[in-house]
Amino acid sequence: MQALAEDFRRQERTIAFVPTMGYLHDGHISLLAAGRQMADILVVSIFVNPTQFGPGEDYANYPRDPERDRALAEKAGTDVLFMPEKEQLYPEGYETYVTQTHLPKHLCGLFRPTHFSGVTTIVAKLFNIVKPHYAVFGEKDYQQLAIVRKMAADLNFDTRIVGAPIVREPDGLALSSRNKYLAQQQRQSALSLNRALTEAQQMVARGETRAECIIEKAVQIITAQAQTGIDYVRICDPETLEDVAVVDRPVLMALAVHVGQTRLIDNTMLVPQNGEQQ
Ligand code: PAJ
Repeated sequence: MQALAEDFRRQERTIAFVPTMGYLHDGHISLLAAGRQMADILVVSIFVNPTQFGPGEDYANYPRDPERDRALAEKAGTDVLFMPEKEQLYPEGYETYVTQTHLPKHLCGLFRPTHFSGVTTIVAKLFNIVKPHYAVFGEKDYQQLAIVRKMAADLNFDTRIVGAPIVREPDGLALSSRNKYLAQQQRQSALSLNRALTEAQQMVARGETRAECIIEKAVQIITAQAQTGIDYVRICDPETLEDVAVVDRPVLMALAVHVGQTRLIDNTMLVPQNGEQQ
């Protein structure tokens, strides 16, 4: 892969890169489409990265379907599908990790303390292998996108990080490889994540600025559904991810909820009517 990337660069062809863990859905495909538009060569990786799963998380059960993925990636115009083996990226004796100081201390990082160092480590490794000019990440994993942006800036990666909007089912559920785990009743309960975010946007549109009240309403909406357990519902600064108390400018509302055994995340921006212009 490194030799291929080097060849592309020598031929002055630009490389767009979409890293994934596979089991591709339309959210992934939207990133592939964005990458396809951006550069001469589209590289997609599929690698279920063990270092970003904590003990007791779903690494072993994470859904995998390489043949279907291959067909979908090809259809979306992928030039190079990179599917390394675990032993190639983490051979015996592997001992180097990339960590970040502040951003991983918020939101999901509070519940998955080793997750983001796994993400920054694998993304840094993949960037060094694929040598991309552009790399596309979904806003669905907002904190991941923020952390990768910061890592790329801090470590002087010569790669432009591009964010892409959340793709949802017609009923509002954000697409995720983990939706496959949801039984029918659980899928119904899972709709409350987006419903809580939509209600929050409506409250802000009606003039509500108290983060506490917006969060309380969201918690009510989610806990009213069967089999839901909230990790967090937060309203925070979109750059630092620090909590904010007053929605007087565009802020991020992010949440993580267990539905049965399945952990789901979602987020949206809350934009007060005359927040930015003032
Ligand atoms: P994975 O969960 O497979 O997601 C790959 C990319 O698809 C991420 O950038 C994610 O934000 C994006 N994505 C997932 N669901 C989306 C949706 N509904 N709408 C838009 N984009 C969506 O994220 C990872 O893999 C890994 O952490 C990885 C970056 C590959 C590192 O291992």
